[in-house]
This record gives sequence, structure tokens and C-alpha cells, in this order.
Amino acid sequence: MSELQQHRHERRILGTEIAWAFGVGILIAATLSVIVFTALTKGVNPPSNVERIDPKTLHLAGEFAEHNLGTTVAPDGGVTVRIIATQFMFVPRCIAVPYGRPVTLRFATPDVIHGVLVTGTNVNTMVVPGYVAQVHTEFIRSGELLMPCHEYCGLGHSEMWATVQVMPESEFKPGSDGRISCARH
Ligand code: CUA
Repeated sequence: MSELQQHRHERRILGTEIAWAFGVGILIAATLSVIVFTALTKGVNPPSNVERIDPKTLHLAGEFAEHNLGTTVAPDGGVTVRIIATQFMFVPRCIAVPYGRPVTLRFATPDVIHGVLVTGTNVNTMVVPGYVAQVHTEFIRSGELLMPCHEYCGLGHSEMWATVQVMPESEFKPGSDGRISCARH
């Protein structure tokens, strides 16, 4: 190969490399902008609120004591649902939520890492011992949604699921204590 040919050859390689680097750069920029866009407009974000809780005592007193689990409507209308994920069930097994209103879901576990998602919604988080996992959402599908554990947590993992009952405003009537559970059917 003459020196000129060698030179052309190297330039061609350089051109290809620059083209690929450019393409990959565009791909990375597109991926990052989708993440930022969905975080800002659709509330899709990693469960990053770092809130500690003692897994050994969370069921004894405080926010995740048994009488406090399930759905609570505050006097200002804010809806908060507290759920314990434990081997191998969710407590409670069914939660009632209103249709088309902001809802805050709070999860904690006393044992191992679980995962939780609600089908057809943006609810999808890990539940890690020692931390409260919090998700904000708005349910815009009515009826019953499935809420399975999606992180392998032991032999009973596949049996670990709960139900989310999305109620129209006419049915979502909390008691005088602000609490509401699933309708029997
Ligand atoms: Cu809990 Cu899998």
C-alpha cells in the first residue's frame, strides 16, 4: 500500500468511527431525555425517598402497626395506603383506592427484599428491609387490579400478591375514622 492509499484508508476508518460515536451519542441523549421527560410529566421516577424504618419493630407500634395498615383518608382529602410486604403475603391482601385522585402508597417489610407493581399503572418499586418505599400515583383504570410481588423472596414468592380495588367516587366513602377497606363481593 502506498503512503497515499494508507492515508485514505485511515481517513475512512476515522470517518466510520466518528459516525458511530455520533449515532451512539444521539441514542444516549434520547434515552436520557425520555427519562427526564417521563419523570417530569408522568411521575415515572426511581423510588428514591430515603426514609429509614426499623424492620424488627415496624409491626409493633407506629405507622405500620396492624390497625394503621390499609387506606386512610386525611381530613384534607389526601389518600395514603400503608402496606406490609412479608413472606409470603401483603397485609392487607386487598386495598381500596379512589378513581382519578392522587394516592400515596407506602410499603415496608420486616423480612427480606420484595418487589411490588400494580398492573397497568406506574406503581413499581422494590421494598427493602430498613426503608419505607413510597410511590405517588393516580389510578385511572377502574375495577380490580393485580398487585404481585415481583422480586424473588423465597419459596412462596409466586403466591405473594394482593388486589387493588379502584372505586368510583360514589363508592369511595371512608368511615368517620377516615378508613376504608375493600368492598365484599
Ligand atoms: Cu415477596 Cu416475592
